[in-house]
Amino acid sequence: MAEACKCAPGSAPGRPENILVTGGAGFIGSHTCVALLSTGYSVVIADNFSNSSPSALDAVRRITGRDLVFYETDVTDASAVRRIFSENRIDGVIHFAGYKAVGESVEKPLSYYRNNLLSTIVLAGACVEHGVPRFVFSSSATVYGDNKPPFVESMPLLPAANPYGETKAVCEKILADTVRSCSGFSASLLRYFNPVGAHESGLLGEAPNGIPNNLMPYITRVAKGELKELSIFGNDYDTPDGTGVRDYIHVMDLAEGHIAALRNAPCGLSVYNLGTGKGTSVLQLVTAFERATGVSVPRRIAARRPGDIAVCYADAGKAERELGWKTHRTIEDMCRDSWRFEKNRCV
Ligand code: UFG
Repeated sequence: MAEACKCAPGSAPGRPENILVTGGAGFIGSHTCVALLSTGYSVVIADNFSNSSPSALDAVRRITGRDLVFYETDVTDASAVRRIFSENRIDGVIHFAGYKAVGESVEKPLSYYRNNLLSTIVLAGACVEHGVPRFVFSSSATVYGDNKPPFVESMPLLPAANPYGETKAVCEKILADTVRSCSGFSASLLRYFNPVGAHESGLLGEAPNGIPNNLMPYITRVAKGELKELSIFGNDYDTPDGTGVRDYIHVMDLAEGHIAALRNAPCGLSVYNLGTGKGTSVLQLVTAFERATGVSVPRRIAARRPGDIAVCYADAGKAERELGWKTHRTIEDMCRDSWRFEKNRCV
C-alpha cells in the first residue's frame, strides 16, 4: 500500500506563501532568504548553527527590513520538524541544511549519510503528512561524477568521488521516489555549480569556520593578509592554462534560481542545473579578483588535490527554457562582492 499522502497542489489565496528554509543561516540559505523576503514570501528558518551563526539572520533582517520565524533545530529530529509543521502553515520547503565538506565526508562517512539522508527523509515525510506540495532540494554538480562537461540534466549520474557527493545522489533518488508515490508532491532538484560572491550590501557572505577549503574564501583571506598565500592545486590539467576549470555562480543569482523554481517548475519531479554555463580557471579567477579589487593575491603552484576533476561547467539551457531564469552577474561582480564582505567581516 502507498504511504499516506495528503498533498494537494495550490496555496492559500490572499496571504504570502510561507516557505520553510532549512539551513537558512548558511551561505546559500541566507542569501535565498533575502531573495524570498524581497519578493514577498514569508520565511520560517530551521537551522542548528552547526556551520553558521545567528549574525546571518540579523543581516537578513537588516537587508530586507522584514522579520522571519526562526527555530534552532536539527532537522533530522522528526518530532522537532513535526512541531514546525504544526505551528506554521508551510506552503513549500527549500532544504539546504546538510554537511558539505568533501574531505570531511571521506573521514566521517556515517555522519554524512546519517545527517544528509535522514534530514531529507524527515522533511519529505513531513511534507507528505501535512500536504505541503512543493520541495526544492539543494543538490550539487558533483552528482555528474566523471561525465564529460558541459553537464546536462539528462546525463546518467555517475558515482561521486566521495561520500558527500553520494549523499546528494541518494537524496535525489529519495525525493524522486517520493514524488512517484504521492501525486500532490512535487520536487525540484537544483544542481549547484560553484557558488561564490556575497550580497552586494557587504552584510552577508560566506564565512567558513577555520581555514577555508574552497577557492574564493581562500583568495579573500589571502588578500586580507590572514593567510600567507594561495596554493593553486595543479597546473598540469588538460585546460587552457593547466589549472582547474569551474563554473562559478554568484550566490544571489543562485538564490534567485530558487525563486524561479518555486514559481515556475512543473508539477512532479524536475531537475535543473544552476550555473552560468561558462568555465573559469583558477588562474583566471585569481587574476579577475586582483583586477576587480586592486589587491594582489600571493600564490604558488602546489600538487593536485586528490579527488579534483579538471573541468566542471553546466549546460545552463534547461533552467532558462523552463524556469525563465539565467544568471546575470559577472565574475567581476563575484570578486568585488566577495571582497566587500571579507573586508567587513570581523569574526
Ligand atoms: N583550488 C585551489 N586552491 C585552493 C582551493 C581550491 O587551487 O586553495 C582549486 C581546486 O583545485 C578547483 C577549484 O579551485 O580546481 C575550485 O575548488 P573549490 O574547492 O572551490 O570547489 P570544488 O569545485 O572542488 O567543489 C565545489 C564544492 C562542492 C561541490 C562542487 C560541485 O565545494 O561541494 O563544487 O561542482 F560538490
